[in-house]
Amino acid sequence: MKPPAVDDYLRLREESGLSARTREEAENGVNGAWASACVIHVESGETVGMGRVLSDGGWYFHIIDMAVLPRHQRKGIGDAIMTALLDRIGEQAPNAYVNLLADPPGRRLYERHGFTESAPVSVGMKRTSAHG
Ligand SMILES: CC(C)(COP(=O)(O)OP(=O)(O)OC[C@H]1O[C@@H](n2cnc3c(N)ncnc32)[C@H](O)[C@@H]1OP(=O)(O)O)[C@@H](O)C(=O)NCCC(=O)NCCS
Repeated sequence: MKPPAVDDYLRLREESGLSARTREEAENGVNGAWASACVIHVESGETVGMGRVLSDGGWYFHIIDMAVLPRHQRKGIGDAIMTALLDRIGEQAPNAYVNLLADPPGRRLYERHGFTESAPVSVGMKRTSAHG
C-alpha cells in the first residue's frame, strides 16, 4: 500500500474536483499518512484512484483523499480502495474507531461500508487556517 506520487496526488485531487493543493503541501504530506491505497490502470500505467488514512496506529483512524478520476468513476474503484483501507485498519485494530468527512459524491459508498452520520451527537467542525 504505497503512497501516491506527488504529481499523481495533485492531479487526482484536482481532476476529481477536490480542492487543489500546492506542490509544497503535497510534498510535505504525501508520505505522512498511516496507510494509502492507489489504483493503477494496467494498460496505461496511470494512477486513477487513491484513498489515504491518518491514524495514531492504536484505535483512531481518519479516512481522507478518496478520489477517482471522473472517467474511471462508477466502476467499483472507490469501493475497492475503501475495502483495502478498511482491511488494513482491521488488521491493525479490531475495534478501530474510523471516521471521515463525507462530501456528497462519496456518501452512498461510505454508507455501503457501514458508515453512519455522527450528527447530532458529534458534528464535523473545521477551520482552514492555523492562524484564524
Ligand atoms: C467518491 C468517489 C471516490 C467514488 O469513487 P467511484 O470509483 O466512482 O466509486 P464506486 O464505483 O465504487 O461507486 C460509485 C457508484 O458506482 C456504482 N458502480 C460501481 N461499479 C459499477 C459498474 N460496474 N457499473 C455501474 N455502476 C457501478 C456503485 O454502485 C456506486 O453507485 P451509487 O453511488 O449510486 O451507490 C468518486 O466519486 C470521486 O472521486 N468523487 C470526487 C471526489 C470526492 O468527492 N471524493 C469524496 C470526498 S469525501
